[in-house]
Amino acid sequence: MQRMWSRKGTLVAAFVLLAVTLAACKPGDPARSTGAYPIDIFQEMHYNQSYKAGEPPRLLPPEGSVPVSGGYIPALSKAESADLTSPYALDRQTLERGALLYRQNCSMCHGLTAAGGGTVGEKFEDYIGISPPAFGSERIGALTPGEAYSSISRGFGFMPRFEGLLSEEDRWALVALIEATAAERSAALEAINGLDEPERTLRLLELRDASG
Ligand code: HEC
Repeated sequence: MQRMWSRKGTLVAAFVLLAVTLAACKPGDPARSTGAYPIDIFQEMHYNQSYKAGEPPRLLPPEGSVPVSGGYIPALSKAESADLTSPYALDRQTLERGALLYRQNCSMCHGLTAAGGGTVGEKFEDYIGISPPAFGSERIGALTPGEAYSSISRGFGFMPRFEGLLSEEDRWALVALIEATAAERSAALEAINGLDEPERTLRLLELRDASG
């Protein structure tokens, strides 16, 4: 038994040695090897041809499923934006879009009806003594549309910035909600606060689609 093992062991060792020697002597497949290393035991992954001759075409992702454009143009400072006005129509649909976006992105701080007192907003008051202002407040009322756009885009104090999350048109729709009269704003928010989350998401997608 002992002898058999050692014979087998010797054979395996000899075979491994032969394989390594052969690999070392092999000049390497010129189509795939870079020749960077004298011993070409492994192909270098990063130099491999990922598309080989005779290979069927790769399945491409469905058209439009991978964003190849977009991004955002960094918003200007509040002072530089003071005179900006929305390039988008301020109609009922824009207001509805603003309300849907508001519910998803702002209501936890500024409150479900934009009157302050959101669940996260209350913590701001407790811990740092700053509350997210109500949209009908004097402070927000004093902002020009451009200033509001800039603060939403770039963030303000403890408020997060939204320019990387929301498109320009989305941010202007939120400005429309801020600029609306108190009655228009609460009507828009009430209408969408009755929908459940999937319904709100679908409606937002519809409105985004409709505006191209
Ligand atoms: C995490 C909490 C939070 C979220 C989310 C949030 N805000 Fe605010 N927001 C604040 C706080 C806090 C302030 C007051 C900041 C300060 O005074 O330093 C503020 C201030 C503002 C102001 C006044 C800025 C100025 O220039 O005076 C506007 C306008 C505003 N928020 C709109 C929005 C909109 C629209 C959204 C959603 C897209 C939003 N906020 C989301 C917390 C939040």
